[in-house]
Amino acid sequence: MTQILDGKLLAQTMQAEIAAKVADFTQKHGLRPGLAAVLVGENPASQVYVRNKRKACDQLGMQSWLHQLPATTSQDELLHLLAQLNTDPQVSGILVQLPLPKQIDESAIIDAVAPLKDVDGFGPVSLGLLTAGTPRFLPCTPFGIQQILVRNKIRIDGQHVVIVGRSNIVGKPLALLLMQKGDGGNATVTVCHSKTRDIAALTTQADIVVVAIGQTHFLTRDMIRPGAVVVDVGINRTPDGKLAGDVDFDAVREVASAITPVPGGIGPMTITMLLHNTLQAAILQHS
Ligand code: GUN
Repeated sequence: MTQILDGKLLAQTMQAEIAAKVADFTQKHGLRPGLAAVLVGENPASQVYVRNKRKACDQLGMQSWLHQLPATTSQDELLHLLAQLNTDPQVSGILVQLPLPKQIDESAIIDAVAPLKDVDGFGPVSLGLLTAGTPRFLPCTPFGIQQILVRNKIRIDGQHVVIVGRSNIVGKPLALLLMQKGDGGNATVTVCHSKTRDIAALTTQADIVVVAIGQTHFLTRDMIRPGAVVVDVGINRTPDGKLAGDVDFDAVREVASAITPVPGGIGPMTITMLLHNTLQAAILQHS
């Protein structure tokens, strides 16, 4: 029987654990952990993501603020807002939803988030610490992928993980995370991308395949070894308006030993790890 890795259910369990810790923190410090979300422009997908993240904060007893800026916002205006949020003692974590409009240099904005409030884990300090093997804030999607595997008792140690996609948000940090020494790591990791010569030759060797390229139903049944574990990070809109992953779920589930669905797989886990990081940020700032 193929195991469906239910991210929605696990997210509920983990959010209940986080809510209890938020209540402890609030009682001890007289201050609720809080997330400041910054949304520039009117990208509909980004609006949905930010709304869901704020809703989750509210449900867990955290504060949240939305800074909604017009698409014409300049880089200096955004940097000015970040400088305020960086020093605001109410704000534990800062999330600047990506992508940003083209007049703004994303890396300059990511660099401007205070390292102790970098709950997305995209900043140079967070990434440097992860690379060094002493992580502080893990990027939320890679962290969620690791947790869904660990909590479902899927072995990572010694396994060959093939990641399709080398983004700074998913592929690259996930490779670092899963190859790390220690629990939840110790994998042998291969990263494939758009210039890889024969992706299927690599994915068919994998014990665990992770696909994060944003291409509907890219991973087909013939591209995995029977019994492999498949993690689908894609959230794509099909022409008829439905949500679809990067994996041809109906066909691949017949050969995989375990697989994450879309929706209800990695998406809810990503939000959960953001909440985890926001609480950790509050704890770090008050320790
Ligand atoms: N855009 C797509 N995914 C993410 C994410 O995890 N965080 C932020 N800030 N923007 C994103």
